[in-house]
Amino acid sequence: MNYLAVDRMAEDESVWEPVRAAYPAQEPFLNLNNAAVSPPPIAVEEAVVDAYRFISRNPDYNMWSRLDTALPGIKRELAELIDCSPDEIALNRNSSEGLSTAIFGIPLAKGDQVLISPWDYPSVRAGWLQRQQREGIEVLNCAFDLLDSDDDIIEAYVEAMTPRTRVLQLTHMYHWNGRVLPVKRLCEIAREALRHSRKCRSAFANWIAISSLPACTNGSVRRSATGC
Ligand SMILES: Cc1ncc(COP(=O)(O)O)c(C=O)c1O
Repeated sequence: MNYLAVDRMAEDESVWEPVRAAYPAQEPFLNLNNAAVSPPPIAVEEAVVDAYRFISRNPDYNMWSRLDTALPGIKRELAELIDCSPDEIALNRNSSEGLSTAIFGIPLAKGDQVLISPWDYPSVRAGWLQRQQREGIEVLNCAFDLLDSDDDIIEAYVEAMTPRTRVLQLTHMYHWNGRVLPVKRLCEIAREALRHSRKCRSAFANWIAISSLPACTNGSVRRSATGC
C-alpha cells in the first residue's frame, strides 16, 4: 500500500463527503466516541428497523423460516469479507458478549490462575472476576504501564506466570490509548512454556482491529480468538 498516497487522499474533503453522508448527522454534539457507542451508518440503521418490522408482521414464519435460513449465506459473505472460514464466524450483539462467551467457556478448576491486566476492557475484567467469585479460580493482575516497552511488558508476563497459570487474557489494542500489545510474541512464549513445563495450558487473545467498514454496524470489526 502506498501510505503517502493514502495520506494525501485523507486530506481531500471530496473523499470524506460521501462517508459523512452515509452516517446520521450528530446533534447537538459531534460524537467522537467511535468505540462502545459509535453510530451505525444510515443503511444499517434502516436495515435493523426493517428487520424488526419484518419479524413483527409474522414472527414465527418470518424469524425462524425466513431470517434463520438466511444465516448460512450471511456467514459465507461475512467470511469472504474478512477472509476466514464461515464456521469461524459467531454473530454476537457486541464484543463484550462475544468475549464473555469465550471467557465463560474455558474449562477451569478451583485454584487455576488467569493473568489479566489492569488495562483490559472493564467488561472483560468483570467476566474473569465473576468466575473468580463463583468458581474459586485465581485472577492475577500483570503489572505494567501502557507506555512500557514491548520487552518490559513481555518480561512482566513471564515474571507473573506460575505453574498454575492456565489462561493469559491479552488485549491486542487497548482502548485507553491505542497501545498494541506484542500478542504474537506472548502467545509464542505461552506455547513454549506449555511445551517445556506445562506452565500455561491456554492463551486467550482478544484482538481488536478498528476499521471504517461501512457495512459493520458500529464501524468497527472486532475479532476474538481462543488459543491464538
Ligand atoms: C478492547 C475492548 N474490548 C472490548 C470492548 C467492548 O466492546 P462492546 O462495547 O462492543 O461490548 C471495547 C469497546 O470499546 C474495547 O475497546
